[in-house]
This record gives sequence, structure tokens and C-alpha cells, in this order.
Amino acid sequence: MDAVADLPPGERRIILEARRIGKEAEIVVRDNGHGISPEALGLLFDSFYTTKAQGMGLGLSIARTLVEAHGGCISAESHPRKGARFLVRLPLGDKNSGEACEAPDPR
Ligand SMILES: Nc1ncnc2c1ncn2[C@@H]1O[C@H](COP(=O)(O)OP(=O)(O)OP(=O)(O)O)[C@@H](O)[C@H]1O
Ligand SMILES: [Mg+2]
Repeated sequence: MDAVADLPPGERRIILEARRIGKEAEIVVRDNGHGISPEALGLLFDSFYTTKAQGMGLGLSIARTLVEAHGGCISAESHPRKGARFLVRLPLGDKNSGEACEAPDPR
């Protein structure tokens, strides 16, 4: 919501997708906001990393802790001027390694 706040209300897009892929659930959250700089991409999930005046920098850190506690993985990618894309994969059966996801498929 913060990332798209600079756009006119009618142009803001936050798209949620969920699908089953084999033994995993895949959840994608993508937006058409300002995107993420290459430097920030490596820091997003660190506790207290924020670029916002009012931010705590805890949202994505907590998200990663929760996802990994369930044996899943979470990753982010961003293209200049195309917004951000977050990918969560969760095992539907046995837990897997909980390591970072590989780069999401460009779907
Ligand atoms: N959808 C997004 N588009 C662009 N940048 C993002 C997006 N989501 C997160 N970020 C960047 O990642 C940083 C960390 O996000 P995170 O949710 O962990 O903390 P926060 O939103 O700054 O604060 P909090 O969630 O604790 O209120 C943000 O400050 C922002 O720079
Ligand atoms: Mg946040």
C-alpha cells in the first residue's frame, strides 16, 4: 500500500495470486509501485531495515520468520518502474529446508 501511494488512486495495483504447484502452495504479491533498489533487495528481510519515515522495518522480517517456521521460503524481486514482486512458497505436506526461494518465475 505504501509503495503505490504516490500513484493516482485509479492506477494503483496490488495483485495477489495463489496456486498449488505439486506439493507446494505458491503465493505471489505484486504491485506497480516505485519498486526496490538493487541495494535494498539484499536488506529487505533484515529486522529494522526501513526506508520509511514511520517504518519499523519489521514487516518483512516477521513475514520471513513465519514463512520459514512453516518450512517455506520467501523472496522479493523488483524491476525498475515496474514495482515489486514477493513470492512465498509453503510446503503442503512435509517441511522442506526453509531456505530462500530461487528467483520467481516471470509469470
Ligand atoms: N512492495 C514494496 N515496494 C517497494 N519497496 C518495498 C515494498 N515492500 C517493502 N519495501 C521496502 O522494504 C523495506 C522493509 O519493509 P518492511 O515491511 O520490513 O518494513 P517497513 O514497511 O519499512 O516497516 P513496518 O512494516 O515495520 O511498518 C521498506 O521500508 C521498503 O523500503
Ligand atoms: Mg511493512
